[in-house]
Amino acid sequence: MTTQTEKLSNQAEALPTKPITKSLNRQMIVILDFGSQYSELIARRIRETQVYSEVLSYRTTAEQLRQLNPKGIILSGGPNSVYDDLAPKCDREIWHLGIPILGVCYGMQLMVQQLGGGVERAKRGEYGKASLFIDDPTDLLTNVEDGATMWMSHGDSCTELPAGFEILAHTENTPCAAIADHDRKLYGVQFHPEVVHSIGGIALIRNFVYHICDCEPTWTTEAFVEESIREIKAKIGDKRVLLALSGGVDSSTLAFLLHRAIGDKLTCMFIDQGFMRKGEPERLLKIFNEQFHIPVEYVNARDRFLEQVKGVTDPEEKRRRIGHEFISVFESESQRLGPFDYLAQGTLYPDVIESADTNVDPKTGERVAVKIKSHHNVGGLPKNLRFKLVEPLRKLFKDEVRKVGKAIGLPAEIIQRHPFPGPGLAIRILGEVTAEKLNILRDADFIVRDEISKWGLYNEFWQAFAVLLPIRSVGVMGDRRTYAYPIVLRFVSSEDGMTADWSRSPYDLLEVISNRIVNEVKGVNRVVYDITSKPPGTIEWE
Ligand code: XMP
Repeated sequence: MTTQTEKLSNQAEALPTKPITKSLNRQMIVILDFGSQYSELIARRIRETQVYSEVLSYRTTAEQLRQLNPKGIILSGGPNSVYDDLAPKCDREIWHLGIPILGVCYGMQLMVQQLGGGVERAKRGEYGKASLFIDDPTDLLTNVEDGATMWMSHGDSCTELPAGFEILAHTENTPCAAIADHDRKLYGVQFHPEVVHSIGGIALIRNFVYHICDCEPTWTTEAFVEESIREIKAKIGDKRVLLALSGGVDSSTLAFLLHRAIGDKLTCMFIDQGFMRKGEPERLLKIFNEQFHIPVEYVNARDRFLEQVKGVTDPEEKRRRIGHEFISVFESESQRLGPFDYLAQGTLYPDVIESADTNVDPKTGERVAVKIKSHHNVGGLPKNLRFKLVEPLRKLFKDEVRKVGKAIGLPAEIIQRHPFPGPGLAIRILGEVTAEKLNILRDADFIVRDEISKWGLYNEFWQAFAVLLPIRSVGVMGDRRTYAYPIVLRFVSSEDGMTADWSRSPYDLLEVISNRIVNEVKGVNRVVYDITSKPPGTIEWE
């Protein structure tokens, strides 16, 4: 059986040792990942200070780092103990590169161990919040308040400092909570400055980035847009690019960016599966075609998709068939509109660091498509349809995509749109999908969106939608008995969709929505509210 520790280490093994950025003149902070769940978060925090940051594997060698020449290096936390046989270790030469290094938790323990100090299992591990008492308020801890709350999660502690190091701060249980060798610019913190519970964590990160590593705030949306347009133009030249538009923020931002770079060399294809929300396909076409003059090839495949899911009740089978049909339509339509040299994909940075298979063509060194973005939920494109890829968003986190979208003029309704699954309403109708049920769910879902927008609450929810259950219950309307479907309201708050909590929505809002659905949507006589968090529930019902 694989343990949690092994799993996390495997994930760290799969990370690249080479950066995705080609422009080496950009100032950057490299994070070496030792299997921490927070490595991505550290990268996001650094980027929030407008300094570019990438996560690389702990196996990245000192020589590779020397060539990359980052302004600073951060060693992440990790699930291991430094004295485990299989504990991931970094190249010992990195201590001699002359580049400032900050070790976080496991990263600090590794620094201490490799530089000749001592690390032992602590008498009392420290998990959760702890007050940080500052012994030396200079460089790393400037502007961090004495007694500030920091988030701890460690079973091991540093018991003896390596030569040249001194203590910057302690907590009640941890004498060496922050340490430094000022001359060599080597720093370590036992806590996690990157998590929101660490008050003053951001100040610490800023101190490291600006004062210790001497970075300038060059990672801005404007700089990214300018640089991307230049890169896209250089890469594509007068070749043709195909983009599958879904209407979400990623593919729409991609379309705007590519259109600005290469104009009519871009073909946007929108496959209407018939599972979108009420009015959405029409709205999308209006925005692109009329408002922004970015022509979209509209493919009406509604009947084909409905035929595919006819009689299918198993959720996995439903997803599989929709995915399969998507490929088939995509294939024939791209042939009809083609030939194309490139396929544009809305791959984001988390997709890059979380997927081991980067599928590089050995001849050209370029990434090739064997997977369409997971939101189309397909296993892979057929072998004979291997496009070269253009992935201009691959350096970005989701919040950075929204900023780019805004900067290049994407309307707020697309930027702020709640996440919507590739198979759409088909996985919000439990069991068999029929045209009748799609109409019912579309109308109910419209009322949900209409009311939460009227109440000014749309942006308060991560997602807020309706689900149709394939059962019926008894009700009464006027003097007549009814026997009709229930609608489930699923309103959740979340940071990233990985975990979620059910939203404590105002009762008055729920009342209005419930009344409207039961009165306006024929076929529904009951509305219920889902009060399950994720885990153990998922956000979607299928
Ligand atoms: P679950 O239901 O797994 O959903 O808690 C987590 C997030 O992912 C979205 N989701 C999908 N997104 N294709 C997508 O692009 C899909 O097939 C899919 N299924 C779920 C879901 O809406 C939520 O935001």
